[in-house]
Amino acid sequence: MTPDRAATVHELLAFYLEAGVDCALLDEPVNRIAEPGAAIPSRPPQPGPVWAAPAAMPAVRSEAPAPELAMQSAREAARTAPTLEALRAMLEQFDGCALKATATRLVFADGNPQARVMFVGEAPGRDEDIEGLPFVGRSGQLLNRMMATIGLDRTSVYIANVIPWRPPGNRTPTPQETQICLPFIRRQIELVDPDVLVTLGNPSTQTLLATRDGIMKTRGKWFDYDTGTRLIRALPTFHPAYLLRSPSYKRLAWQDLRAIARALQG
Ligand code: URA
Repeated sequence: MTPDRAATVHELLAFYLEAGVDCALLDEPVNRIAEPGAAIPSRPPQPGPVWAAPAAMPAVRSEAPAPELAMQSAREAARTAPTLEALRAMLEQFDGCALKATATRLVFADGNPQARVMFVGEAPGRDEDIEGLPFVGRSGQLLNRMMATIGLDRTSVYIANVIPWRPPGNRTPTPQETQICLPFIRRQIELVDPDVLVTLGNPSTQTLLATRDGIMKTRGKWFDYDTGTRLIRALPTFHPAYLLRSPSYKRLAWQDLRAIARALQG
């Protein structure tokens, strides 16, 4: 490859990374605009690799079963997990969600399973995918600071996500992916059995609290969450990533934190 061409390829890869495209899903590119059935001309032999995918771009195939089947097997599997450890082991074995194939690892939970308060976000990002723990990146650092204002830290809370695998490039999980993962997070909440459930941001709030209202309307309002064994109090608040982008809403988040503190005292 000529130095000019190598520079162009590097620039293109840097552009992809910046745009969040950081893993290859297949070994070969797919021409999604080709006419169905049209023959794809084969490439002439190359003198060497055009470019080698860096280690951070694993080429993987997703071979998840049909979504309805996956949802059913998730529902059946999740309810049989007797403990959090069994649930984690079950998720490690579960192949029904295609996100598992593109993520580096399962991001199950962090914190204290005996905690009285449980925070639930949407899905792991890049840092979480690398470390295997939820909320360890920039938004996790803000979450730590938010919790600290009411005397909480990772030894006194339990933290998880609705989706336990990072969506490629941090894209929004599809409704199907969310529905497939839902029985697992519901069982996780039931097993932790916190006194207060805090949903972080819109996706987690709408999924867990079965509301269509947006976070501007739901934040700071108490909901009843039925774990399957009892009703617990649930409070939606802003996702820390949103607060990083819109710091003026920290004032409202502070009100929500004080409401959580009051609920824990009561
Ligand atoms: N955002 C989330 O919703 N969850 C994480 O774990 C990290 C960022």
